[in-house]
This record gives sequence, structure tokens and C-alpha cells, in this order.
Amino acid sequence: MDGKSRRARWVGTTLLALAALLGSSVTLDARAEYGDVVINNYSDQAGMRPVVFPHWFHRIRFRCKVCHADLGFKFKAGGNEINMVKVIDGQFCGACHNGEVAWNVENCNMCHSGKPNTPTQVHESTTSSIVTPAKGAKP
Ligand code: HEC
Ligand code: HEC
Ligand code: HEC
Repeated sequence: MDGKSRRARWVGTTLLALAALLGSSVTLDARAEYGDVVINNYSDQAGMRPVVFPHWFHRIRFRCKVCHADLGFKFKAGGNEINMVKVIDGQFCGACHNGEVAWNVENCNMCHSGKPNTPTQVHESTTSSIVTPAKGAKP
């Protein structure tokens, strides 16, 4: 298979599937998938630091499907209306951060580690793989 068709197949199996799931704007900036996601729909208002979710750290430990299908995380920064009642109830982060799969929710600062007032966004990749997406370029 030549490089072109290999690339085409790669695009076919990853980006297009993702685009279908997202049902909206997908750029070809696939690396942003591995950036840290800052989640701040409610934290600042509640006097907590914004949540920083290290995507790459998790992504190398679990398949996409575990979170984005089985646990129902939507492919959108800030798109999941997560709150602590749900987390403590075992939904979203709480499916793992329960003292069994991973450390439990009492470690507030592990998740609420963002700088106050950082808006919901995909932050630059922790692996800083290739490019840093422009701030605000992603949903
Ligand atoms: C495993 C990760 C995780 C841990 C640990 C965690 N949180 Fe959260 N928390 C979240 C996420 C994700 C949100 C949603 C963030 C947002 O949209 O602003 C959230 C939201 C909140 C909110 C705002 C929404 C609400 O439910 O009122 C408060 C307040 C909060 N957390 C307090 C705490 C406190 C206090 C602790 C420690 C006892 C804690 N959190 C530990 C992940 C975590
Ligand atoms: C441990 C759980 C977990 C795994 C595994 C995981 N994700 Fe995510 N993903 C999340 C969370 C949490 C968010 C942010 C959701 C939010 O802000 O409410 C997210 C956000 C995203 C986004 C939107 C933000 C962005 O970076 O553009 C994409 C796209 C995405 N994930 C793709 C993937 C792909 C592809 C894989 C597998 C290679 C994967 N995820 C694996 C939990 C996970
Ligand atoms: C599918 C399981 C799973 C889900 C869902 C999950 N985590 Fe984790 N997370 C883990 C595991 C496993 C670790 C590693 C724990 C350890 O090292 O003891 C971890 C570690 C972390 C760390 C520490 C990273 C580091 O550098 O040590 C943070 C921060 C974190 N998770 C935040 C979150 C937040 C926020 C959410 C929800 C938005 C979430 N996690 C959802 C399994 C999960």
C-alpha cells in the first residue's frame, strides 16, 4: 500500500469515525485529542479551581471506547455537565476515581488543579507532540 492510501485509510478509520460521532466541526488537528482538557462549567462559580483532565495520561491506559462509549463521555471539552453528585455516584470520573481503579474523590486538588478563571478548553498537549492548537480554536 502506498503512503497515500495508507493515509487515506488512517483518516477513514479514525477521523471520519470521530467526525460522525461529533456530528459537527472536526478539524484535521487530531493531536488535540491528547491535550489536557480544562473543564470549568461550574468550578469557578463554586469557588473551586477548574478541573484539568490529562487526556494523554488516560488515553495510554484505556481505550477510547471505555470512556467515550461505555462511560458516555461526549467528545467535547466541557460537553458533559459533570458535577460532584454524579462523580461520587460513580458516573464520569467517578467510574474509576473510586479508590478501586484509581484514587478516590477525596483528592480534590488532583482534579481541581487549574488556575482560577481558566475557561473550558483543550489545553496544549502534555506530550507537546507536534503543534499547539491556538487557544480557543477548539470547541
Ligand atoms: C476525579 C476528579 C475529581 C475529584 C477528585 C474531585 N472533583 Fe469536583 N469536579 C470534577 C469535575 C470533572 C467537575 C466538573 C467541573 C466543571 O464543569 O466545572 C467537578 C465539579 C465540582 C464542583 C462544581 C459542581 C458541583 O458539583 O457543585 C464542586 C463544588 C466540586 N467539584 C468540588 C469538589 C471537592 C470539594 C472535591 C474533593 C472532596 C472534588 N470536587 C473532587 C472532578 C473531580
Ligand atoms: C479515561 C477516559 C478517556 C479515554 C480513555 C479517552 N478519553 Fe477522550 N475525553 C475524555 C474526557 C473526560 C474528555 C473531556 C470531556 C469533558 O470536558 O466533559 C474527552 C474529550 C475528548 C475529545 C474532545 C476534546 C479534544 O481534545 O478535542 C476528543 C476528540 C476525544 N476525547 C477523543 C478521544 C480518543 C480518540 C480517545 C482514544 C484514543 C480518547 N478520547 C480516550 C475521556 C477519555
Ligand atoms: C476509565 C477510568 C478513568 C476515568 C473515567 C478517569 N480516570 Fe483519571 N485516572 C485513572 C487512572 C487509572 C489513573 C492513575 C491512578 C494512579 O496512578 O494511581 C488516573 C489518574 C488521574 C490523574 C492524575 C494524573 C497524573 O499525572 O498522575 C488525574 C488528574 C485524573 N486522573 C483526573 C481525572 C478526571 C478529571 C476525570 C474525569 C473527567 C478522570 N480522571 C476520569 C482512571 C480514570
